[in-house]
Amino acid sequence: MRNFFSICIILMTPLLLQANASPDSSSITIVPKPVMMKTGVGQFVINRFTTILVRGKEAEVNKIATFFADRIRFSGGPKLEVREMTAADKHLSAIIFEKQLTRSSLPEEGYNLKITPKQVLLTAKTGAGLFHGIQTLLQMLPPDFSGQNIPMTYKELELPAVTITDYPRYPYRGMHLDVSRHFFPKEFIKRYIDLIAMYKMNTFHWHLTDDNGWRIEIKKYPKLMQISAWHTDHEDLPWNDRPAQQPGDKTTYGGYYSQDEIREIVQYAADRYVNVIPEIEMPAHSVEVLAAYPQFSCTGGPFTVPTGSYWPNIDILCAGNDSVFTFLEDVLTEVMDLFPSKYIHVGGDEADKTNWKSCPKCQERIKTEGLKDEKELQSYFIKRMEKFITSKNRKMIGWDEILEGGLPPEATVMSWRGVEGGIAAARQGHDAIMTPGTHCYFDYYQADPATEPKAIGGFITLKKVYSYEPTPSELTATEAKHILGAQGNVWTEFIPTPGQAEYMALPRMIALSEVVWSPKSMRNWSDFQRRMVSQFTRLQKMRVNYSKGSFKVEVNTEFDSKTNGIKVILGSEQLDVPIRYTINGNDVTSNSTLYSGPFEVKRNGVIKAGLFVDDKLKEKTTEMPLVFHMAIGKHIKYLTTYSERYPASGQGALNDGLRGSVNHRDGLWQGFLGNDIDIIIDLGREMAVNSVQANFLQNQKSWIFLPVVVEYSLSSDGKKYHSFNEVVNRIPPKEEQNFIQPFNFQFMENTKARYVRVKAKNLGKCPAWHEGAGEPCWMFADEIVVF
Ligand code: ACM
Ligand code: ZN
Repeated sequence: MRNFFSICIILMTPLLLQANASPDSSSITIVPKPVMMKTGVGQFVINRFTTILVRGKEAEVNKIATFFADRIRFSGGPKLEVREMTAADKHLSAIIFEKQLTRSSLPEEGYNLKITPKQVLLTAKTGAGLFHGIQTLLQMLPPDFSGQNIPMTYKELELPAVTITDYPRYPYRGMHLDVSRHFFPKEFIKRYIDLIAMYKMNTFHWHLTDDNGWRIEIKKYPKLMQISAWHTDHEDLPWNDRPAQQPGDKTTYGGYYSQDEIREIVQYAADRYVNVIPEIEMPAHSVEVLAAYPQFSCTGGPFTVPTGSYWPNIDILCAGNDSVFTFLEDVLTEVMDLFPSKYIHVGGDEADKTNWKSCPKCQERIKTEGLKDEKELQSYFIKRMEKFITSKNRKMIGWDEILEGGLPPEATVMSWRGVEGGIAAARQGHDAIMTPGTHCYFDYYQADPATEPKAIGGFITLKKVYSYEPTPSELTATEAKHILGAQGNVWTEFIPTPGQAEYMALPRMIALSEVVWSPKSMRNWSDFQRRMVSQFTRLQKMRVNYSKGSFKVEVNTEFDSKTNGIKVILGSEQLDVPIRYTINGNDVTSNSTLYSGPFEVKRNGVIKAGLFVDDKLKEKTTEMPLVFHMAIGKHIKYLTTYSERYPASGQGALNDGLRGSVNHRDGLWQGFLGNDIDIIIDLGREMAVNSVQANFLQNQKSWIFLPVVVEYSLSSDGKKYHSFNEVVNRIPPKEEQNFIQPFNFQFMENTKARYVRVKAKNLGKCPAWHEGAGEPCWMFADEIVVF
């Protein structure tokens, strides 16, 4: 026995050394993370003698292999020969691509990859699988090896020895782009598709029509290109402040894709295994059609193509006019000739029924079809279109409003107003694609709006996207099968250029790519951060204008009851990038204090902090005023409850020393929906109380109003209260600006108390003039400051 062991040890030593010399798994940074990966020993070297062998006479595999060879060459690597494998090649050191139609037990789109120092073997059941395998291979090359059309800078490239089995979690992995609000050139659409493909996503949802412009050539209706595709250029004005087209105004902003261009893009996408789903909006979001063909409206018009957004937008296609359906069927016939996609998207969202209510034709339709109301009329509209789409052997998708008034028999639902639409669809046995505004709206801010380019609103960070779980836990296993996947939406009201579209889509679509591809059990934020470091380098090299939002410092606080100080915790979405900070108001420089862990603050100040890469400040600093007051960290008893939709950090959010900003989604505001605030702060012992100040937000466009009145009272024993004082709000709810209003009360000298009770009366319902008239409104509170 003894001898056997010593032989083993001697034999194993060289192997272990070799293993140490080869890249370990932490240097492999593939996103989305492969399902199974085992690192091996050594590496395969690609140089100008390397051959790519295609096993079997498949033109498709040959095309994929050539695609790979081109990428190697255009990115600065050697030119590789691609040829069919012969018996003589059996022992050749080579890269081998093989489609295994029958032998493979892999799921669709899956692939197996085995890299040894001698050989690279990529096998898959489908072309899509091989193509995804190529993306993995490319991501194993150095991260700065991703230029475009650059001369050879790498004579040799190394692929680490590794065995990978990989396949997607969801069949639908999509990115959407709105080309109506702003028009994007063909070249950018291709680049967008490249990015989709690079991260193993497989669907491009092309939002081709909306109020602000029709973007697809339809031969039968030339006025769509002459009129609907153009509006008056007000690019110099904010989206929501743009005047409607005036008589004599030229319509010079816009454009459309010709049918040849569409074919070219669809083929370009197909070559990358990306399916393009066209969306033609109906019955609403279609004023641009009415501008050209007012006869398709309920009112007769006239209409112009809007230059921005107007609310409410009541113009709509008439549901009582058969020529509207003829028009839409003609349009979809040409669309289906151009797009081989099984799915055709018909919009269906945000249809204001005002005009249908007063239109004799629409009302007649309701009567003759035996419909209950206008909701059922919308359902009639969508069902009628579905019948047509189904007759052409295609499948219809619509936004979740198509559930209202009854879902068409075969339709797939795109759930955007939260996840409820997806849940309802799945329970009715329909397929659903998840794209909720909480996680998948990539037109929302991804970092502090104070330092970001103007966006439509909202707040969805990279980390938030990464945390998304597309399959709602409410569903049974059978129902859950209907959740086909998820999609990131890029609406472009506030996205005027390709560069800005990249900024909003990336890096968030990379987080989503992992959500929809990798097994749920493998989701790991810090591991993702580690792999993102090389993704950022790669994007940089590709000159992609990705957002540096994740390079911002996040500030969190905790109260330390032992020291009575505020513990400040700094962090960011980046892995191990140094943070420097100041607390005295000075600007942050490379000489400022290096953050090495939570630190304590015991007085008012401003925390300023930034990330430093190569000793340079990476992005604008985060600035967070810190109010040091008596109530920080003290226990608060809630007699009313805040909404789960805006909990901030929950218990403790109102007295953590941090004040919410004017961005109501900054995670610091606690929201009360239709509900009053009634809370009791326990200061722990009786002490002198000079003043109380509760801060509230008004943002009436988001249905957030100041309280009607705030009442403060004090107690020594928590039973008997005294010093009842009201601070009445005198600012009208109609105030358009978003602002923070302190409600301040100064007590008489020598006032003492242990308990401070704060009541704030919610306005209750949105006022009559407001778009949410009669609906419960929000009251947003942050930091209740006690001195
Ligand atoms: C949508 O965001 N209106 C689908
Ligand atoms: Zn009508």
